[in-house]
Amino acid sequence: MKKIGVLTSGGDSPGMNACLRAVVRTAMYHNMEVVGFYRGYEGLIDNAHLNLDHKSVSNIIHRGGTILKTARSERFRTEAGVRQAAETLRSHQLEGLVIIGGDGSFRGAIELSKHIDIPIVGCAGTIDNDLVGTDFTIGYDTAINTVIEALDKLRDTAESHDRIFVVEVMGRDAGLIALRTAIAAGAEALLVPEIKNDVDKLLTHMKNWRSSKSSKIVIVAEGDESGGAYKIADIIRKEIPQSEVRVSILGHIQRGGNPTCMERVNASILGYQAVNGLLEGHRNEMVGLINKEVVYTPFEKAVKHIETLSPDMLRLLDILSL
Ligand code: F6P
Repeated sequence: MKKIGVLTSGGDSPGMNACLRAVVRTAMYHNMEVVGFYRGYEGLIDNAHLNLDHKSVSNIIHRGGTILKTARSERFRTEAGVRQAAETLRSHQLEGLVIIGGDGSFRGAIELSKHIDIPIVGCAGTIDNDLVGTDFTIGYDTAINTVIEALDKLRDTAESHDRIFVVEVMGRDAGLIALRTAIAAGAEALLVPEIKNDVDKLLTHMKNWRSSKSSKIVIVAEGDESGGAYKIADIIRKEIPQSEVRVSILGHIQRGGNPTCMERVNASILGYQAVNGLLEGHRNEMVGLINKEVVYTPFEKAVKHIETLSPDMLRLLDILSL
């Protein structure tokens, strides 16, 4: 293999740059050329590219975002868009492609593979951690640390005013950011898309809150069926009329920032193993780490969302939050 392509796609996540750096430098180590495409599949369609070498990825391991930029490409959802993207890959005579992205990007990779016969390996890049086939996706660790920093600050002010805070975190389809940060911040309650009727559970749970607790934090994942933090705050106000409730929506700050040490290392390993995977003949698979072992998972399986949260973690939260 002499020439490969690389792109970042979908929502950005801290650590994508570290992963890109690893892809480029590992490829250089194996004397390959690397072509980077800008803005994910948009760059493939438009042939917006640059040649990457050691120097191009200098001083990026610590930076959030992605120097290749990214996009959620509408054009790539069309047959014509996918054909055009395949044509671009052909025109560069690429022998392999690394895609750093989340479930939408890997669904795109499945479509692309129907139009061009080159091996594609994916690196899981999403803050949501909702892909099957890796313990931690690139961006998750940094995002949860960002959330924790915010929750600690909110706890200070909530405690001073004896208030309830309803905090909305990202996770359109998944409550993995919500669950882990709820445990780490000592939150009093959690609402996530994976658990149905969790508002009823919240109402019961609220009755068990110790009166000696002066502040309470309720974490809501944005994809929860309840409809978000403002709706939950209204429900709580109705149920406990004497309470002072405030809402905080953390939003896109969760997607930025310098990647943590864990993130940089995880992303570097995944980028390195993606190139090794191409060389070993892996195709249409996502590379991940499960219990520190390198695992390749077919895209079709990787994009199946993790539909259940660990019952042990949920129980831990329940017991510790009383
Ligand atoms: O997929 C990652 C994610 O951050 C989700 O948690 C969130 O719902 C979504 O992206 C937001 O996407 P956008 O930045 O395109 O609005």
